[in-house]
Amino acid sequence: MLHMRMVRIYIRINLLYHYHQLRLLIWNNPMNHWIQSLILAVVFVLISAPTLATEEVNLYSARKEALIKPLLDKFTKQTGVKVNLLTGKAKALLKRLQSEGRNTPADILLTTDAGNLHAATAAHLLQPIDNASLKVVVPQNLRDPADHWYALSIRSRVVVHSKERVKASELSTYEDLADPKWKGRICIRSSNNIYNQSLLASLISHNGVEKAESWAKGMVANMAQPPKGNDRAQVKAVAVGVCDIAIINTYYMGVMLHKDAGQKKAASQVSLFFPNQADRGAHINISGAGIIKGAKHKENAIKLLEFLVSDEAQQWYAQANHEYPVKAGIPVSDIVNAWGYPFKQDGLNVGELGKYNADAVKMFDRAGWK
Ligand SMILES: [Fe+2]
Repeated sequence: MLHMRMVRIYIRINLLYHYHQLRLLIWNNPMNHWIQSLILAVVFVLISAPTLATEEVNLYSARKEALIKPLLDKFTKQTGVKVNLLTGKAKALLKRLQSEGRNTPADILLTTDAGNLHAATAAHLLQPIDNASLKVVVPQNLRDPADHWYALSIRSRVVVHSKERVKASELSTYEDLADPKWKGRICIRSSNNIYNQSLLASLISHNGVEKAESWAKGMVANMAQPPKGNDRAQVKAVAVGVCDIAIINTYYMGVMLHKDAGQKKAASQVSLFFPNQADRGAHINISGAGIIKGAKHKENAIKLLEFLVSDEAQQWYAQANHEYPVKAGIPVSDIVNAWGYPFKQDGLNVGELGKYNADAVKMFDRAGWK
């Protein structure tokens, strides 16, 4: 990096020297002063253009391009700051950041689970950002207590159930799903998925290791099939009668109901239920972001985070992605509103989900949750 900077400085000094020579040559030539000035101005602009840095910010995103790019384009239009986007799986991005070390071009890491942000913080990849405008918008339980990351949107991991075979009155809590009355009736994805790891981490945090482990075992005993497929696949499995209930993230239901094809049909056959409304509230998770240690475009990175919690961006998260905004007073989409809003949300700091992630992963193994 230092070498590159030296080369750039050398080129610049050289260009300025030649510009000075040219200026003397033109000035000493017998022609109109206006024309002389014009030629010099044009030459100066041509010489300096390549050395003037374009305003930019480099974003590593675990969020798929389609779910973030429209917002980034709005940001560029508003501020003139270009966003260079690199998308990938959260784990791969973390590994990449670690191997790039101080030479990483990344300014921001954006992920879709607090567990990943916690892991990035634990790996010393993020720097604390004590920013008043972010703190005003993002509730305390949805940001790192040491300011390394901030939530940008909220989702809940909820129960969906067959409209025909399960009444809402039969459902109550996550804990209740481990009861033998649900034997052979539950669909849920595999334990290597971080959404499930975070759900179990929340149960460890609230109920302790022993109770959380017996919950995991009870869930395995109640599964209708070995875990397979993503969250949407669980909804489809309920729709075709493989199981009666499933656990999924809220926005998947929103997206499925928004579509015309078979997904909408499957999603229409299930109802969404928020567990634990009589006690701590439904488990929530976030998409969020932090600024990379040593970020070369820190000011632009902060600008982008501030934009992502602005009214405009929060409305987009709510309407296009069917997520819950972090900013108070922003309406949710009609589809999301129909499930009941507001609902009682677990107030646990989402950083706890990362803190207990390793315990959750081991616990899933012991419970035989594939
Ligand atoms: Fe997701």
